[in-house]
Amino acid sequence: MKAVVFTRYGTADVLEARDVARPVPRADEVLVRVRAVAINDWDWQALQGIPFVNRLMFGLRRPKKQILGSDIAGVVEAAGRDARRFQPGDEVFGDLSGRWGGFAEYVCAGESELAPKPAGLTFEEAAAIPQAAMLAVQGLLDVGRLRQEQKLLVNGAGGGVGTFAIQIARLYSAEATGVDSAAKLAMLRSLGYDHVLDYAQEDFTRTGQQYDLILDVKTDRSVFAYLRALRPGGTYTTVGGSMGRLARVALLGPLIAVLRKKRVRVVGLKPNKDLGYMTELIEAGKVRPVVDGRYTLEQAGEAMRFFGEGRHQGKVVLTVE
Ligand SMILES: NC(=O)c1ccc[n+]([C@@H]2O[C@H](COP(=O)([O-])OP(=O)(O)OC[C@H]3O[C@@H](n4cnc5c(N)ncnc54)[C@H](OP(=O)(O)O)[C@@H]3O)[C@@H](O)[C@H]2O)c1
Repeated sequence: MKAVVFTRYGTADVLEARDVARPVPRADEVLVRVRAVAINDWDWQALQGIPFVNRLMFGLRRPKKQILGSDIAGVVEAAGRDARRFQPGDEVFGDLSGRWGGFAEYVCAGESELAPKPAGLTFEEAAAIPQAAMLAVQGLLDVGRLRQEQKLLVNGAGGGVGTFAIQIARLYSAEATGVDSAAKLAMLRSLGYDHVLDYAQEDFTRTGQQYDLILDVKTDRSVFAYLRALRPGGTYTTVGGSMGRLARVALLGPLIAVLRKKRVRVVGLKPNKDLGYMTELIEAGKVRPVVDGRYTLEQAGEAMRFFGEGRHQGKVVLTVE
């Protein structure tokens, strides 16, 4: 089968299209014919082997998993002896993080890593969902405990998480502000953000505005800056950013809850947990993934470069033909 492989850490230039052996499912797995695979920050970090500490997982000198891609959508080609939930021909999607292998024509998956693909979505749209939508749901609802008509700010709103977050926030009639670079603000407004801020022009922690909930995908400030932008009783929840800053949010959270009566939390992704909820919202016409560009598997290098430069709006997805 065709796959895009990397055998050493580097930039998008180290990705190579190659013929490799088709994987064989274990008894409790299924083999999926991949139709689309989304790019995540996780792929971008694994490609470069950064931050260095992640090499304990990725492989110290060389990548152990040489085929990237964890958010996939496709069709079950074969089922292992003990696989019961899916049959050949079923259309599925899911997050195979930890396992990887989605930049390929076929990948094996455990049945618990997959869900039936929502009706009416393309494979590209379905592949855009797993990690970004789970982070949005878990950040806004599980950790953020968003309630009706609250004032919400999403920092880094123009990527995968923020484009799902606004569509979920609208169900709660939140007054939402989206922060991102100038080129993405029109798209943010079109998705339903009431207010938009260009982070290069304005620091949202210094406008004097305060929010009930802040969802951050790019934590790069001190915890105290975020506290300034929170209303009394408010919550700051982050899904990503600088490792040092995230560690401080995690460490100071319990102390701040006692001293300042505000909550600051890091979201730990629970992969695939809310695929069923997202499918309900999508099938009810309440949420639609935002997919940027059209790339084939052979264009994985170009797509990764586009993602790494941060120019994308929503999700970058490869079509596997
Ligand atoms: N917590 C967990 O368990 C877990 C699991 C998986 C992933 N993650 C993390 O979750 C995040 C995924 O977010 P995503 O998919 O939405 O990322 P994304 O698609 O890369 O979007 C990030 C957005 O932030 C913008 N941005 C960059 N610098 C910014 C700044 N200083 N201020 C405001 N906006 C800024 C980018 O735009 P420009 O480039 O145009 O500036 C981009 O639109 C990543 O940080 C990832 O590492 C966490």
